[in-house]
Amino acid sequence: MVQREIIKTRPASMRGKIVSFNRINRYFSCAKPLKMALSRFEYVKKFELDDKLVPECWIVVRLDGKGFSKFSDLHNFVKPNDKRALDLMNHSAKKVFKEINDIVIAYGQSDEYSFVLKKSTTLYSRRSAKITTNIASLFAAAYTFYWPLFFEGEERPKMVPSFDARAVQYPNDQVLRDYLSWRQADCHINNLYNTTFWALIQKGGLSNQEAGKRLTGTFAKDKNEILFSEFAMNYNDEPDQFKKGTILVKDPNPEDKKNPYLELYQDLIGDTFWEEHPELLMK
Ligand code: GTP
Ligand code: MG
Repeated sequence: MVQREIIKTRPASMRGKIVSFNRINRYFSCAKPLKMALSRFEYVKKFELDDKLVPECWIVVRLDGKGFSKFSDLHNFVKPNDKRALDLMNHSAKKVFKEINDIVIAYGQSDEYSFVLKKSTTLYSRRSAKITTNIASLFAAAYTFYWPLFFEGEERPKMVPSFDARAVQYPNDQVLRDYLSWRQADCHINNLYNTTFWALIQKGGLSNQEAGKRLTGTFAKDKNEILFSEFAMNYNDEPDQFKKGTILVKDPNPEDKKNPYLELYQDLIGDTFWEEHPELLMK
């Protein structure tokens, strides 16, 4: 800062030129050379905390939309699932995938996305804040930038979207798999609840409060039964994207070079997915 302020006010003969510290010091007759001033202030760097993530662990960065209950109402998202919004999340995640080579797999549902970085990544020297802020800002920028591709006739969202992010380290493949299973189970539970809740309101004419009360204490089989017997809906027939969320992986043989990703809506709790993609856990 000190250096920049002084250079800004340097004389016309020196402007626009690369000028040595010595020459600037001579001109301003500094009592202390700038280099010394710099080193005098440099001690402030010691206040920065070391937030390096430990080596040889999977790094998962999960981001989550801030206040998306309000954001989704403001933009009249279809309840309980708006395909445009989910597809925009996936598109933004692909942008992050493209920019950060070390991402192995990503998983998204609702307003959240998890990015798994390979165990050996040296991205930003594994500094947590650098990695999370970069991914979250890239994602939020892409979400806004690509909005018109998914919300036809709208130039941009009505409010600025933002996402928080955290980085978590997982020491082995099993814990990583359990993490992803946890997010997918969360997707399943929320989606079954929301599908039944909104069916009771939209098709059954209940108020929000009445629907909530009706579902209190119910199990999955009860919700399936309500959907089937009262609304002729078979939960199994709901789109997989809504029930299972989206898995993103690199496509080894992409048909479209501009979109070299596989967008999968399949179970990742069981072994099948991992047996079909053994290369993912070898990274
Ligand atoms: P914070 O994350 O704590 O800031 O709160 P939040 O309001 O974002 O809620 P949370 O992340 O817990 O949940 C996401 C919310 O986004 C859901 O509760 C929905 O209200 C909304 N949402 C996400 N996807 C959709 C969608 O496809 N359709 C609709 N209608 N709403 C959605
Ligand atoms: Mg949220």
